[in-house]
Amino acid sequence: MEVLSVASEVYPLIKTGGLADVAGALPGALASHGVTMRTLVPGYPSVMSKLSGGRVVQELDDLFGVPAKLIAGRVEGLDVIVIEAAALYDRPGNPYVSPDGWDWPDNWKRFAALGWVAAELGMGMVEGYRPHVIHCHDWQAGLAPAYVKYGPVDSVKTVMTIHNIAFKGFFGPEIFGQLRLPPHAFGVGGVEFYGGISYLKSGMECADYVTTVSPNYADEIRTPEFGMGLEGLLNGRADTVVGILNGIDTDAWNPATDTALVQTYSANTIQARQVNKQAVVEKFGLDGTDGPLFCVISRLTDQKGMDLLLQTVDGLVDLGGRLAVLGSGEAYLEDGFRHMTARHPGKVSIANGYNEALSHVMQAGCDAIIIPSRFEPCGLTQLYGLRYGCVPVVSRIGGLADTVIDANPAAIMAEVATGVVFDAGSAHTLYEALRKTVRLYSDDKIWKKIQRRGMKSDVSWDTSAARYADLYASITGLKTNDDPDN
Ligand code: ADP
Ligand code: GLC
Repeated sequence: MEVLSVASEVYPLIKTGGLADVAGALPGALASHGVTMRTLVPGYPSVMSKLSGGRVVQELDDLFGVPAKLIAGRVEGLDVIVIEAAALYDRPGNPYVSPDGWDWPDNWKRFAALGWVAAELGMGMVEGYRPHVIHCHDWQAGLAPAYVKYGPVDSVKTVMTIHNIAFKGFFGPEIFGQLRLPPHAFGVGGVEFYGGISYLKSGMECADYVTTVSPNYADEIRTPEFGMGLEGLLNGRADTVVGILNGIDTDAWNPATDTALVQTYSANTIQARQVNKQAVVEKFGLDGTDGPLFCVISRLTDQKGMDLLLQTVDGLVDLGGRLAVLGSGEAYLEDGFRHMTARHPGKVSIANGYNEALSHVMQAGCDAIIIPSRFEPCGLTQLYGLRYGCVPVVSRIGGLADTVIDANPAAIMAEVATGVVFDAGSAHTLYEALRKTVRLYSDDKIWKKIQRRGMKSDVSWDTSAARYADLYASITGLKTNDDPDN
Protein backbone atom coordinates (compact mmCIF):
# COMPACT_ATOMS: atom_id res chain seq x y z
CA MET A 1 0.00 0.00 0.00
CA GLU A 2 1.44 3.36 -1.08
CA VAL A 3 0.25 6.44 0.76
CA LEU A 4 1.20 10.01 0.00
CA SER A 5 1.10 12.08 3.18
CA VAL A 6 0.65 15.79 2.52
CA ALA A 7 1.74 18.09 5.31
CA SER A 8 3.01 21.59 5.67
CA GLU A 9 5.20 20.49 8.59
CA VAL A 10 7.11 17.31 9.23
CA TYR A 11 9.58 16.76 12.05
CA PRO A 12 12.59 17.01 11.94
CA LEU A 13 12.54 19.06 8.72
CA ILE A 14 10.15 21.80 9.77
CA LYS A 15 8.02 22.17 12.92
CA THR A 16 5.86 24.78 14.57
CA GLY A 17 3.60 22.38 16.51
CA GLY A 18 2.25 18.89 17.02
CA LEU A 19 1.28 18.41 13.37
CA ALA A 20 4.98 18.09 12.55
CA ASP A 21 5.50 15.42 15.22
CA VAL A 22 2.58 13.39 13.90
CA ALA A 23 3.50 13.72 10.23
CA GLY A 24 7.09 12.85 11.12
CA ALA A 25 6.26 9.76 13.18
CA LEU A 26 3.45 8.16 11.15
CA PRO A 27 5.54 6.87 8.22
CA GLY A 28 7.81 4.88 10.55
CA ALA A 29 4.86 3.61 12.58
CA LEU A 30 3.02 2.45 9.45
CA ALA A 31 5.94 0.60 7.91
CA SER A 32 5.35 -2.58 9.90
CA HIS A 33 1.73 -2.59 8.75
CA GLY A 34 2.74 -2.88 5.13
CA VAL A 35 2.15 0.80 4.35
CA THR A 36 4.82 2.79 2.50
CA MET A 37 4.32 6.45 3.25
CA ARG A 38 6.01 9.23 1.34
CA THR A 39 5.57 12.81 2.50
CA LEU A 40 4.94 15.79 0.23
CA VAL A 41 6.24 18.95 1.84
CA PRO A 42 6.90 22.53 0.65
CA GLY A 43 10.54 23.46 0.07
CA TYR A 44 10.98 25.89 2.96
CA PRO A 45 14.61 26.91 3.60
CA SER A 46 14.97 24.47 6.52
CA VAL A 47 13.70 21.64 4.31
CA MET A 48 15.93 22.53 1.35
CA SER A 49 19.00 22.80 3.57
CA LYS A 50 18.54 19.24 4.86
CA LEU A 51 17.76 17.74 1.48
CA SER A 52 20.82 16.49 -0.29
CA GLY A 53 21.17 14.00 -3.09
CA GLY A 54 17.49 14.16 -4.06
CA ARG A 55 16.30 13.35 -7.58
CA VAL A 56 14.24 15.75 -9.70
CA VAL A 57 11.17 13.74 -10.66
CA GLN A 58 9.18 16.52 -12.33
CA GLU A 59 9.71 20.04 -13.57
CA LEU A 60 6.78 22.44 -13.72
CA ASP A 61 6.91 25.68 -15.73
CA ASP A 62 3.80 27.13 -14.24
CA LEU A 63 2.88 26.17 -10.69
CA PHE A 64 0.37 28.95 -10.07
CA GLY A 65 2.55 31.31 -12.07
CA VAL A 66 5.98 30.22 -10.86
CA PRO A 67 8.49 27.57 -11.95
CA ALA A 68 8.94 24.56 -9.67
CA LYS A 69 10.69 21.24 -9.36
CA LEU A 70 9.58 18.15 -7.49
CA ILE A 71 12.52 16.51 -5.77
CA ALA A 72 12.26 13.01 -4.33
CA GLY A 73 14.72 11.95 -1.68
CA ARG A 74 15.32 10.35 1.67
CA VAL A 75 16.15 12.69 4.49
CA GLU A 76 16.36 12.06 8.24
CA GLY A 77 14.77 8.65 7.73
CA LEU A 78 11.79 10.03 5.80
CA ASP A 79 10.89 9.46 2.15
CA VAL A 80 9.92 12.89 0.89
CA ILE A 81 8.86 14.69 -2.22
CA VAL A 82 9.76 18.34 -1.86
CA ILE A 83 8.22 21.13 -3.90
CA GLU A 84 11.12 23.39 -4.72
CA ALA A 85 9.50 26.69 -5.72
CA ALA A 86 11.61 29.52 -4.38
CA ALA A 87 9.02 32.18 -5.23
CA LEU A 88 6.50 30.47 -2.96
CA TYR A 89 8.51 28.90 -0.14
CA ASP A 90 12.01 30.37 0.10
CA ARG A 91 11.19 32.78 2.91
CA PRO A 92 12.75 33.21 6.33
CA GLY A 93 11.26 32.16 9.67
CA ASN A 94 7.85 30.68 10.33
CA PRO A 95 6.18 29.01 7.32
CA TYR A 96 2.96 30.97 7.56
CA VAL A 97 3.71 34.52 8.66
CA SER A 98 6.11 37.23 7.56
CA PRO A 99 8.73 38.54 10.00
CA ASP A 100 6.33 41.32 11.05
CA GLY A 101 3.85 38.65 12.18
CA TRP A 102 1.22 38.92 9.43
CA ASP A 103 0.06 35.99 7.30
CA TRP A 104 1.87 35.96 3.96
CA PRO A 105 -0.65 37.55 1.55
CA ASP A 106 -0.19 34.76 -0.99
CA ASN A 107 -0.80 31.89 1.46
CA TRP A 108 -3.82 30.91 -0.62
CA LYS A 109 -1.47 30.30 -3.55
CA ARG A 110 1.33 28.67 -1.54
CA PHE A 111 -1.04 26.02 -0.21
CA ALA A 112 -3.19 25.71 -3.31
CA ALA A 113 0.08 24.68 -4.93
CA LEU A 114 0.64 22.06 -2.23
CA GLY A 115 -2.85 20.59 -2.71
CA TRP A 116 -2.63 20.72 -6.50
CA VAL A 117 0.73 18.92 -6.65
CA ALA A 118 -0.57 16.28 -4.21
CA ALA A 119 -3.61 15.60 -6.38
CA GLU A 120 -1.53 15.49 -9.57
CA LEU A 121 0.83 12.99 -7.95
CA GLY A 122 -2.20 10.93 -6.96
CA MET A 123 -3.46 11.04 -10.52
CA GLY A 124 -0.16 9.82 -11.94
CA MET A 125 1.90 12.91 -12.79
CA VAL A 126 5.19 11.15 -12.08
CA GLU A 127 5.76 7.98 -14.04
CA GLY A 128 6.26 4.95 -11.85
CA TYR A 129 4.67 6.53 -8.77
CA ARG A 130 0.99 6.00 -8.11
CA PRO A 131 -0.12 6.26 -4.46
CA HIS A 132 -3.34 4.47 -3.53
CA VAL A 133 -4.25 7.06 -0.91
CA ILE A 134 -3.51 10.75 -0.43
CA HIS A 135 -3.55 11.50 3.31
CA CYS A 136 -3.99 15.25 3.85
CA HIS A 137 -3.14 17.00 7.11
CA ASP A 138 -4.89 20.22 8.11
CA TRP A 139 -6.05 23.14 5.98
CA GLN A 140 -2.75 23.58 4.17
CA ALA A 141 -3.37 20.27 2.38
CA GLY A 142 -7.15 20.67 2.23
CA LEU A 143 -7.50 21.47 -1.46
CA ALA A 144 -5.98 18.14 -2.55
CA PRO A 145 -9.24 16.17 -2.15
CA ALA A 146 -11.06 18.87 -4.13
CA TYR A 147 -8.54 18.67 -6.98
CA VAL A 148 -9.03 14.91 -7.02
CA LYS A 149 -12.82 15.13 -6.83
CA TYR A 150 -13.02 17.61 -9.70
CA GLY A 151 -10.08 16.12 -11.63
CA PRO A 152 -10.07 13.64 -14.50
CA VAL A 153 -9.03 10.57 -12.44
CA ASP A 154 -10.77 9.70 -9.22
CA SER A 155 -9.26 6.28 -8.57
CA VAL A 156 -6.95 7.62 -5.86
CA LYS A 157 -8.62 7.76 -2.44
CA THR A 158 -8.29 10.70 -0.08
CA VAL A 159 -8.24 11.05 3.71
CA MET A 160 -8.49 14.41 5.44
CA THR A 161 -7.13 14.63 8.99
CA ILE A 162 -8.20 17.56 11.14
CA HIS A 163 -5.52 18.51 13.64
CA ASN A 164 -7.29 21.72 14.60
CA ILE A 165 -10.69 22.78 13.29
CA ALA A 166 -10.05 26.36 14.40
CA PHE A 167 -7.63 26.91 11.51
CA LYS A 168 -9.80 26.82 8.41
CA GLY A 169 -7.58 28.29 5.72
CA PHE A 170 -10.27 30.82 4.84
CA PHE A 171 -9.84 33.14 1.85
CA GLY A 172 -12.06 35.55 -0.06
CA PRO A 173 -14.07 34.37 -3.10
CA GLU A 174 -11.90 36.45 -5.44
CA ILE A 175 -9.19 33.76 -5.46
CA PHE A 176 -11.52 31.14 -6.87
CA GLY A 177 -10.82 32.03 -10.49
CA GLN A 178 -7.16 31.25 -9.99
CA LEU A 179 -7.57 27.89 -8.24
CA ARG A 180 -7.84 25.81 -11.44
CA LEU A 181 -11.15 24.31 -10.33
CA PRO A 182 -14.33 24.09 -12.46
CA PRO A 183 -17.01 26.71 -11.70
CA HIS A 184 -19.35 24.22 -10.01
CA ALA A 185 -16.66 23.53 -7.36
CA PHE A 186 -17.65 26.85 -5.82
CA GLY A 187 -20.64 25.44 -3.99
CA VAL A 188 -21.79 23.87 -0.76
CA GLY A 189 -20.60 20.44 -1.93
CA GLY A 190 -17.20 21.86 -2.85
CA VAL A 191 -14.83 24.53 -1.65
CA GLU A 192 -17.28 27.30 -0.75
CA PHE A 193 -17.72 28.28 2.90
CA TYR A 194 -19.83 31.23 4.03
CA GLY A 195 -19.33 33.05 0.75
CA GLY A 196 -15.58 32.53 0.67
CA ILE A 197 -13.32 29.51 0.39
CA SER A 198 -12.11 27.30 3.22
CA TYR A 199 -9.35 24.85 2.40
CA LEU A 200 -10.14 22.78 5.50
CA LYS A 201 -13.82 22.58 4.64
CA SER A 202 -12.89 21.61 1.07
CA GLY A 203 -10.90 18.68 2.36
CA MET A 204 -13.59 17.68 4.83
CA GLU A 205 -16.24 17.86 2.12
CA CYS A 206 -14.38 16.16 -0.72
CA ALA A 207 -12.26 13.49 1.02
CA ASP A 208 -13.37 9.87 1.11
CA TYR A 209 -12.77 9.76 4.85
CA VAL A 210 -12.30 12.38 7.56
CA THR A 211 -10.28 11.68 10.66
CA THR A 212 -9.30 13.71 13.66
CA VAL A 213 -6.70 13.12 16.30
CA SER A 214 -8.67 11.82 19.28
CA PRO A 215 -12.04 10.07 19.77
CA ASN A 216 -13.24 12.72 22.20
CA TYR A 217 -12.44 15.61 19.81
CA ALA A 218 -14.26 13.68 17.05
CA ASP A 219 -17.37 13.85 19.26
CA GLU A 220 -16.79 17.44 20.36
CA ILE A 221 -16.50 18.89 16.84
CA ARG A 222 -19.90 17.52 15.98
CA THR A 223 -21.36 20.12 18.37
CA PRO A 224 -21.73 23.87 17.74
CA GLU A 225 -19.47 24.68 20.71
CA PHE A 226 -16.41 23.05 19.13
CA GLY A 227 -17.36 22.52 15.47
CA MET A 228 -16.86 26.19 14.68
CA GLY A 229 -19.37 26.12 11.84
CA LEU A 230 -18.36 22.74 10.46
CA GLU A 231 -20.45 20.57 12.80
CA GLY A 232 -23.26 20.29 10.23
CA LEU A 233 -20.90 18.95 7.60
CA LEU A 234 -19.47 16.42 10.05
CA ASN A 235 -22.88 15.26 11.21
CA GLY A 236 -23.96 14.90 7.59
CA ARG A 237 -21.20 12.36 6.93
CA ALA A 238 -20.92 10.89 10.41
CA ASP A 239 -20.33 7.34 9.14
CA THR A 240 -17.10 8.42 7.45
CA VAL A 241 -15.65 10.47 10.33
CA VAL A 242 -13.47 8.87 12.98
CA GLY A 243 -11.16 9.93 15.81
CA ILE A 244 -7.81 8.11 15.87
CA LEU A 245 -5.66 8.99 18.85
CA ASN A 246 -2.18 10.36 18.19
CA GLY A 247 0.80 8.45 19.51
CA ILE A 248 4.34 9.68 19.98
CA ASP A 249 7.70 8.63 18.59
CA THR A 250 8.88 6.53 21.52
CA ASP A 251 12.45 6.41 20.16
CA ALA A 252 12.86 10.17 19.87
CA TRP A 253 11.12 10.49 23.25
CA ASN A 254 12.76 7.86 25.43
CA PRO A 255 14.12 9.01 28.81
CA ALA A 256 16.45 5.99 28.92
CA THR A 257 18.34 7.04 25.77
CA ASP A 258 17.54 10.72 25.21
CA THR A 259 20.81 12.53 24.44
CA ALA A 260 19.28 15.93 25.25
CA LEU A 261 19.02 14.97 28.94
CA VAL A 262 21.60 15.68 31.60
CA GLN A 263 20.76 12.30 33.15
CA THR A 264 18.90 9.44 31.47
CA TYR A 265 16.59 7.28 33.58
CA SER A 266 13.76 4.76 33.49
CA ALA A 267 10.67 3.97 35.56
CA ASN A 268 12.92 1.99 37.90
CA THR A 269 15.44 4.79 38.42
CA ILE A 270 12.98 7.63 38.71
CA GLN A 271 14.98 9.39 41.43
CA ALA A 272 17.63 10.13 38.76
CA ARG A 273 15.21 12.74 37.40
CA GLN A 274 16.51 14.95 40.21
CA VAL A 275 19.66 15.71 38.19
CA ASN A 276 17.52 17.02 35.35
CA LYS A 277 15.42 18.98 37.84
CA GLN A 278 18.56 20.70 39.06
CA ALA A 279 19.46 21.53 35.45
CA VAL A 280 16.03 23.09 34.80
CA VAL A 281 16.25 25.09 38.02
CA GLU A 282 19.65 26.46 36.96
CA LYS A 283 18.65 27.18 33.36
CA PHE A 284 15.59 29.10 34.52
CA GLY A 285 17.31 30.83 37.45
CA LEU A 286 14.86 29.34 39.98
CA ASP A 287 15.35 28.63 43.70
CA GLY A 288 16.54 25.17 44.94
CA THR A 289 15.03 21.80 44.10
CA ASP A 290 12.72 21.25 47.07
CA GLY A 291 9.00 21.40 46.40
CA PRO A 292 7.11 20.81 43.18
CA LEU A 293 8.43 22.28 39.96
CA PHE A 294 5.72 22.85 37.34
CA CYS A 295 6.30 23.55 33.68
CA VAL A 296 4.56 24.74 30.56
CA ILE A 297 5.81 23.91 27.06
CA SER A 298 3.37 25.51 24.72
CA ARG A 299 2.23 28.03 22.21
CA LEU A 300 1.12 30.91 24.43
CA THR A 301 -2.45 31.37 23.19
CA ASP A 302 -6.02 31.48 24.40
CA GLN A 303 -6.61 27.97 22.99
CA LYS A 304 -3.99 26.73 25.42
CA GLY A 305 -5.68 28.52 28.36
CA MET A 306 -2.55 30.51 29.14
CA ASP A 307 -4.60 33.50 30.32
CA LEU A 308 -6.20 31.19 32.91
CA LEU A 309 -2.79 30.05 34.08
CA LEU A 310 -1.62 33.65 34.45
CA GLN A 311 -4.53 34.23 36.80
CA THR A 312 -3.41 31.37 39.04
CA VAL A 313 0.35 32.04 39.17
CA ASP A 314 0.17 33.98 42.45
CA GLY A 315 -1.82 31.12 43.97
CA LEU A 316 0.63 28.53 42.66
CA VAL A 317 3.55 30.36 44.25
CA ASP A 318 1.59 30.62 47.54
CA LEU A 319 1.14 26.85 47.44
CA GLY A 320 4.92 26.46 47.35
CA GLY A 321 5.17 25.67 43.65
CA ARG A 322 7.64 27.01 41.11
CA LEU A 323 6.93 27.44 37.41
CA ALA A 324 9.18 27.24 34.33
CA VAL A 325 7.53 28.35 31.09
CA LEU A 326 8.91 27.62 27.62
CA GLY A 327 6.96 29.16 24.81
CA SER A 328 6.05 32.04 22.63
CA GLY A 329 2.85 33.40 21.20
CA GLU A 330 0.47 36.25 21.82
CA ALA A 331 2.24 39.37 23.03
CA TYR A 332 -0.07 39.99 26.00
CA LEU A 333 0.60 36.49 27.31
CA GLU A 334 4.37 36.73 26.82
CA ASP A 335 4.24 40.06 28.66
CA GLY A 336 2.09 38.49 31.38
CA PHE A 337 4.61 35.73 32.09
CA ARG A 338 7.48 38.24 32.01
CA HIS A 339 5.58 40.30 34.54
CA MET A 340 5.12 37.22 36.74
CA THR A 341 8.83 36.43 36.42
CA ALA A 342 9.64 39.91 37.77
CA ARG A 343 7.01 39.62 40.50
CA HIS A 344 8.12 36.20 41.75
CA PRO A 345 11.90 36.06 41.29
CA GLY A 346 13.27 32.55 41.81
CA LYS A 347 9.75 31.11 41.68
CA VAL A 348 8.56 31.83 38.14
CA SER A 349 10.58 32.15 34.96
CA ILE A 350 9.87 32.24 31.25
CA ALA A 351 12.18 31.20 28.41
CA ASN A 352 10.76 32.89 25.39
CA GLY A 353 11.13 31.13 22.05
CA TYR A 354 11.29 27.65 20.65
CA ASN A 355 13.83 25.14 21.99
CA GLU A 356 13.37 21.44 21.21
CA ALA A 357 16.28 20.22 23.39
CA LEU A 358 15.19 22.29 26.38
CA SER A 359 11.67 20.90 26.05
CA HIS A 360 13.11 17.39 26.54
CA VAL A 361 15.10 18.40 29.62
CA MET A 362 12.00 20.06 31.11
CA GLN A 363 9.89 16.93 30.63
CA ALA A 364 12.71 14.97 32.30
CA GLY A 365 13.23 17.34 35.22
CA CYS A 366 9.95 19.04 36.09
CA ASP A 367 7.48 17.33 38.40
CA ALA A 368 4.33 18.25 36.52
CA ILE A 369 3.29 19.84 33.23
CA ILE A 370 0.27 22.16 33.17
CA ILE A 371 -2.00 22.03 30.12
CA PRO A 372 -5.14 24.10 30.78
CA SER A 373 -6.43 24.13 27.18
CA ARG A 374 -9.90 25.42 26.29
CA PHE A 375 -9.90 22.97 23.41
CA GLU A 376 -7.27 20.43 22.45
CA PRO A 377 -7.70 18.13 19.46
CA CYS A 378 -5.18 15.69 20.93
CA GLY A 379 -2.22 17.36 22.59
CA LEU A 380 1.20 15.77 22.61
CA THR A 381 2.94 17.40 25.57
CA GLN A 382 0.83 15.39 28.04
CA LEU A 383 1.95 12.22 26.23
CA TYR A 384 5.61 13.29 26.48
CA GLY A 385 4.90 14.11 30.12
CA LEU A 386 3.51 10.62 30.78
CA ARG A 387 6.49 9.01 29.09
CA TYR A 388 8.97 11.12 31.10
CA GLY A 389 7.31 10.96 34.52
CA CYS A 390 6.33 14.64 34.34
CA VAL A 391 2.80 14.32 35.69
CA PRO A 392 0.22 15.97 33.40
CA VAL A 393 -2.25 18.42 34.94
CA VAL A 394 -4.81 18.83 32.17
CA SER A 395 -8.25 20.17 31.43
CA ARG A 396 -10.96 17.61 30.72
CA ILE A 397 -11.19 18.32 27.02
CA GLY A 398 -10.40 16.75 23.63
CA GLY A 399 -7.50 14.35 23.57
CA LEU A 400 -6.35 15.42 27.03
CA ALA A 401 -9.42 13.72 28.50
CA ASP A 402 -8.74 10.62 26.40
CA THR A 403 -5.16 10.19 27.60
CA VAL A 404 -4.88 11.18 31.27
CA ILE A 405 -6.64 9.43 34.18
CA ASP A 406 -7.42 11.75 37.07
CA ALA A 407 -5.98 10.95 40.49
CA ASN A 408 -9.31 10.96 42.30
CA PRO A 409 -9.57 8.75 45.37
CA ALA A 410 -11.14 5.85 43.46
CA ALA A 411 -8.48 5.95 40.75
CA ILE A 412 -5.71 6.11 43.34
CA MET A 413 -7.19 3.09 45.13
CA ALA A 414 -7.59 1.20 41.86
CA GLU A 415 -4.00 2.15 40.95
CA VAL A 416 -4.89 3.62 37.57
CA ALA A 417 -4.32 7.37 38.06
CA THR A 418 -1.77 9.01 35.74
CA GLY A 419 -2.35 12.73 36.28
CA VAL A 420 -4.75 15.43 37.40
CA VAL A 421 -7.79 16.34 35.30
CA PHE A 422 -10.02 19.38 35.89
CA ASP A 423 -12.97 21.10 34.21
CA ALA A 424 -11.80 23.30 31.34
CA GLY A 425 -12.13 27.04 30.94
CA SER A 426 -11.91 28.26 34.54
CA ALA A 427 -9.05 29.71 36.58
CA HIS A 428 -10.80 28.45 39.68
CA THR A 429 -10.85 24.78 38.64
CA LEU A 430 -7.26 25.12 37.45
CA TYR A 431 -6.21 26.49 40.82
CA GLU A 432 -7.99 23.64 42.61
CA ALA A 433 -6.17 21.17 40.34
CA LEU A 434 -2.83 22.77 41.20
CA ARG A 435 -3.68 22.55 44.88
CA LYS A 436 -4.55 18.89 44.49
CA THR A 437 -1.29 18.29 42.60
CA VAL A 438 0.77 19.88 45.38
CA ARG A 439 -1.03 17.70 47.90
CA LEU A 440 -0.37 14.53 45.89
CA TYR A 441 3.27 15.55 45.43
CA SER A 442 3.70 15.78 49.18
CA ASP A 443 2.97 12.04 49.49
CA ASP A 444 6.09 10.62 47.88
CA LYS A 445 4.73 7.09 47.66
CA ILE A 446 1.54 8.05 45.84
CA TRP A 447 3.37 10.53 43.62
CA LYS A 448 6.02 8.06 42.45
CA LYS A 449 3.29 5.53 41.69
CA ILE A 450 1.51 8.07 39.50
CA GLN A 451 4.78 8.88 37.75
CA ARG A 452 5.71 5.24 37.16
CA ARG A 453 2.26 4.35 35.91
CA GLY A 454 2.43 7.20 33.40
CA MET A 455 5.85 6.07 32.27
CA LYS A 456 4.52 2.58 31.67
CA SER A 457 1.35 3.59 29.87
CA ASP A 458 1.18 2.96 26.15
CA VAL A 459 1.65 6.26 24.32
CA SER A 460 3.16 4.66 21.23
CA TRP A 461 1.74 4.65 17.74
CA ASP A 462 1.19 0.87 17.75
CA THR A 463 -2.59 0.80 18.11
CA SER A 464 -3.32 3.94 16.12
CA ALA A 465 -1.01 3.12 13.21
CA ALA A 466 -2.94 -0.13 12.84
CA ARG A 467 -6.17 1.85 12.74
CA TYR A 468 -4.87 4.11 9.96
CA ALA A 469 -3.69 1.04 8.05
CA ASP A 470 -7.17 -0.50 8.43
CA LEU A 471 -8.74 2.72 7.23
CA TYR A 472 -6.56 2.83 4.11
CA ALA A 473 -7.43 -0.81 3.48
CA SER A 474 -11.17 -0.22 3.87
CA ILE A 475 -11.32 2.70 1.42
CA THR A 476 -9.07 1.13 -1.20
CA GLY A 477 -10.19 -2.47 -0.87
CA LEU A 478 -6.51 -3.43 -0.63
CA LYS A 479 -4.98 -5.59 2.06
CA THR A 480 -2.42 -4.63 4.69
CA ASN A 481 -0.01 -6.76 6.70
CA ASP A 482 -2.61 -6.86 9.48
CA ASP A 483 -5.21 -8.54 7.28
CA PRO A 484 -5.68 -12.16 8.42
CA ASP A 485 -6.14 -13.27 4.79
CA ASN A 486 -2.86 -11.73 3.72
P1 ADP B 1 -0.06 22.23 19.26
O1 ADP B 1 0.30 21.47 18.05
O2 ADP B 1 -1.49 22.62 19.35
O3 ADP B 1 0.85 23.38 19.50
P2 ADP B 1 0.73 19.80 20.70
O4 ADP B 1 0.76 19.50 22.15
O5 ADP B 1 0.05 18.82 19.82
O6 ADP B 1 0.12 21.26 20.54
O7 ADP B 1 2.20 19.88 20.13
C1 ADP B 1 3.09 20.88 20.47
C2 ADP B 1 4.48 20.41 20.10
O8 ADP B 1 5.34 21.53 20.06
C3 ADP B 1 5.10 19.47 21.11
O9 ADP B 1 6.05 18.65 20.45
C4 ADP B 1 5.80 20.44 22.08
O10 ADP B 1 6.83 19.82 22.79
C5 ADP B 1 6.32 21.45 21.10
N1 ADP B 1 6.52 22.80 21.62
C6 ADP B 1 5.58 23.75 21.87
N2 ADP B 1 6.16 24.90 22.25
C7 ADP B 1 7.49 24.66 22.25
C8 ADP B 1 8.65 25.47 22.55
N3 ADP B 1 8.52 26.73 22.89
N4 ADP B 1 9.87 24.90 22.42
C9 ADP B 1 9.98 23.60 22.05
N5 ADP B 1 8.95 22.81 21.75
C10 ADP B 1 7.72 23.33 21.84
C1 GLC C 1 -2.84 20.41 16.54
C2 GLC C 1 -3.61 20.38 17.85
C3 GLC C 1 -3.02 19.45 18.88
C4 GLC C 1 -2.61 18.13 18.26
C5 GLC C 1 -1.69 18.38 17.08
C6 GLC C 1 -1.24 17.09 16.41
O1 GLC C 1 -1.81 21.31 16.56
O2 GLC C 1 -3.76 21.68 18.39
O3 GLC C 1 -3.95 19.21 19.91
O4 GLC C 1 -1.94 17.33 19.22
O5 GLC C 1 -2.35 19.14 16.13
O6 GLC C 1 -2.33 16.33 15.97
